[in-house]
Amino acid sequence: MKGFAERVATVQEYYFSAKLREVNQLITDGKPVINLGIGSPDLAPDRMVIDALKSTAENPKAHGYQNYQGIPELRIAMAEFYAREYKVTLNPNKEILPLMGSKEGIMHVSMAFLNPGDQVLIPDPGYPTYTSVTSLLGAEPIFYGLDLEKKGRPDFEALEKLDLSRVKIMWINYPQMPTGAAGSKEILIELVTFAKKHDLVLVHDNPYSHILNPEPLSILAIPGGEEVALELNSLSKTFNMPGWRVGMLCGRADWVEAVLKVKSNMDSGMFLGLQKGAIAALSLGKNWFTDLDELYQNRRKLVWKMADLLQLSYSKDSAGLFVWCKVPEGKSPDELVDWLLYEKNIFITPGKIFGPAGENYVRISLCMPEFKILEAINRIKP
Ligand SMILES: Cc1ncc(COP(=O)(O)O)c(C=O)c1O
Repeated sequence: MKGFAERVATVQEYYFSAKLREVNQLITDGKPVINLGIGSPDLAPDRMVIDALKSTAENPKAHGYQNYQGIPELRIAMAEFYAREYKVTLNPNKEILPLMGSKEGIMHVSMAFLNPGDQVLIPDPGYPTYTSVTSLLGAEPIFYGLDLEKKGRPDFEALEKLDLSRVKIMWINYPQMPTGAAGSKEILIELVTFAKKHDLVLVHDNPYSHILNPEPLSILAIPGGEEVALELNSLSKTFNMPGWRVGMLCGRADWVEAVLKVKSNMDSGMFLGLQKGAIAALSLGKNWFTDLDELYQNRRKLVWKMADLLQLSYSKDSAGLFVWCKVPEGKSPDELVDWLLYEKNIFITPGKIFGPAGENYVRISLCMPEFKILEAINRIKP
């Protein structure tokens, strides 16, 4: 064998892919590990969603290959969700592409726009996939800072000092993972102006828009956003469906078409049952969101308690599925994470995996029932 492709050396196995093997080994060895590391909603989707999947699976005619753009009813349900939740009008035939989760979209959007040597603006800290996909394609990640005192506003002043002539894509993500910075309409307006000025493709990754976030935002609702931006969205967190792998890409017809051109060569349409389930989820009413909000609010209060016990500092003004905690000066976040895992059997995520700005932080997930978070608190109590 003449060696792997050079791109394999540009990335490492995804942190959780490797770490969860270790956590699972501890569990196999009989350790009662409480996993507050990963943001995988632990509750089931709505009953109607499961019924739609089940009844479709019973239909012998439902098992064939599906359309690359999904069934029209799915795209219509996605368009209605955008109209209802964000007041954004999308043409379901041209401006929406169903995805197998938004993570897949990050690769396909990047493949549609990037050449080797192009540069990509990536939030630091941020979702590691933006960086690894950029590197896999031979493009160069350029990190930008966020002001956590100002709802995660990008450091535009520092950005303006850079030579941006080779930058093609700018990734943005509000509510921001891992910091929970909610963003604001004003920040999105600034971003649209910035993208226009520097001729960038702004891609808003929006999977947390309905988690502990009273005002879901879409970049496509901002005047001019539809010219310079694409948006990824996902059913994973909003509808407790992370394992289903359903997401969507929304925005300009010509840009969505270019992504479809790439994607249709990589995979085929989703199983019809998943599409029918997704339609049922997208049409859920306000109660779904208020229940979800209450659930995560209660859990978050307990996680705050846990953070207090560990003498961590955090902002109460945040959104999304995590609490982003600063480790006190002089203490090592790595030692804290290892002590929690090996001595207390509690898994939390070190902030450094989200970029250099995450070095002094840890991230605690809200995807555990209250009794488990209480148990974690009891294990930590002196
Ligand atoms: C910021 C961000 N974007 C995208 C994703 C991927 O979500 P999915 O592929 O399940 O839609 C995640 C998942 O954790 C995330 O945190």
